Amino acid sequence: MTQRVRKAVFPVAGLGTRFLPATKAVPKEMLTIVDRPVIDYVVEEAREAGIEHFIFVTGRNKGVIEDHFDVQFELYDTLAQRGRDETLAMLQRVQPLPGQTSFTRQQAPLGLGHAVWCARELVGDEPFALLLPDMIMRAEVGCLSQMVSLYDQTGGNVVAVQECDPADAHKYGIVGRGARAGTGFEIDRMVEKPARGTAPSNLYLNGRYILQPQIFSILEKQERGAGNEIQLTDAMLKLKAKQPFYGYHFKGRAFDCGSPEGFVEANLTFALERPEMHERIERALRALTGEQPRGKSGLKAG
Ligand code: UTP
Repeated sequence: MTQRVRKAVFPVAGLGTRFLPATKAVPKEMLTIVDRPVIDYVVEEAREAGIEHFIFVTGRNKGVIEDHFDVQFELYDTLAQRGRDETLAMLQRVQPLPGQTSFTRQQAPLGLGHAVWCARELVGDEPFALLLPDMIMRAEVGCLSQMVSLYDQTGGNVVAVQECDPADAHKYGIVGRGARAGTGFEIDRMVEKPARGTAPSNLYLNGRYILQPQIFSILEKQERGAGNEIQLTDAMLKLKAKQPFYGYHFKGRAFDCGSPEGFVEANLTFALERPEMHERIERALRALTGEQPRGKSGLKAG
C-alpha cells in the first residue's frame, strides 16, 4: 500500500525577472490569465487531484498570495448585500478551508531545490506533490490527478514529462524511457540540460512531481549546481540511485506562464474558451492577422 499524497508544495519565491517591470511589486503568480491569477489554476489542479494541504514557499513581495487565499469578509459581505450571488459562489468555490494552507519563506532565492527544502517541516515524513506554478496544464483529467493514479499503482517517485522539439532538449531536464509500468514507465535516465545531441529522448520534465520525503535529506546538504543554485534535478538524481522513479507522459496542453510568450498564449486560449468573450476575441485576432471573420463557427479554442 502506498501512502496517500495529501500535501502539495508550490514554490513561489522566484524573482520572475522575465516579467520585469510587472514583477517589481506584483508576484508573477498573481498575473492574470483572463480574470484568474495564474496560481489559482495550479491550486485547482492540485485540489482536483485530492490534495488537502497547500504549502506555499514564498519570498519578499509575495504577501499578496496569502491574501488571495484568505477570506475577504468585507468583499463577501458587499457582494451578498448587492445580490451578486453568482460571483460570491464562484469565490467561495475556490476558497481553501481554514487550516488548509501554509506559508513559509525562502529567505533568499537560492534555487528551486532550496525552495523545496524550505517546505520540509511543513511536509514532514510523507510523500508530497510539487507543482511549479509557472506551468498551467490543460487536460480533461488534470495532470496531477493522472500522476496520482500512476503513483497508486507504482509508489516511489513520479514525474510528469512531455515531448519537446528534439532541437530544444538541451534546455530542459530530460528523461530516458524504460520499461512500461502501469499507466506510465520506468525512468532509466534523467539528465539536466544534456549537451546537444546527447539527450536520451525528447521527454522533458514539465513541472509536476510526486516525491518521497527522503529528497529533503539530500537537499539538506545544500550542494550548489548549475548557475550556483541548489538544483532540484541534482537532488532527484541522487534519490534515483536509492528509489525508483516513474514517468507519466502528459498528453494535454501546457502553457509556460513564466515566459511572456507562453503567458500571452494562455490568455488568448483561455479567453477563446469563454463563451461570453469568444466572438469578440476571435474577431480581434482575425483583424490583427488579416484573416476574414468566419462568424461563430470559426476558430475553435484549445
Ligand atoms: P524559474 O527560474 O522559472 O523562476 O523557477 P524565476 O526565477 O522566478 O523566473 P525568472 O527566470 O527570473 O523569470 C521555477 C520555479 O521555481 C521557483 C519559481 O518561483 C518558479 O515557480 N523558484 C525558483 C523559487 O521558489 N525559488 C528559487 O530560488 C528559484
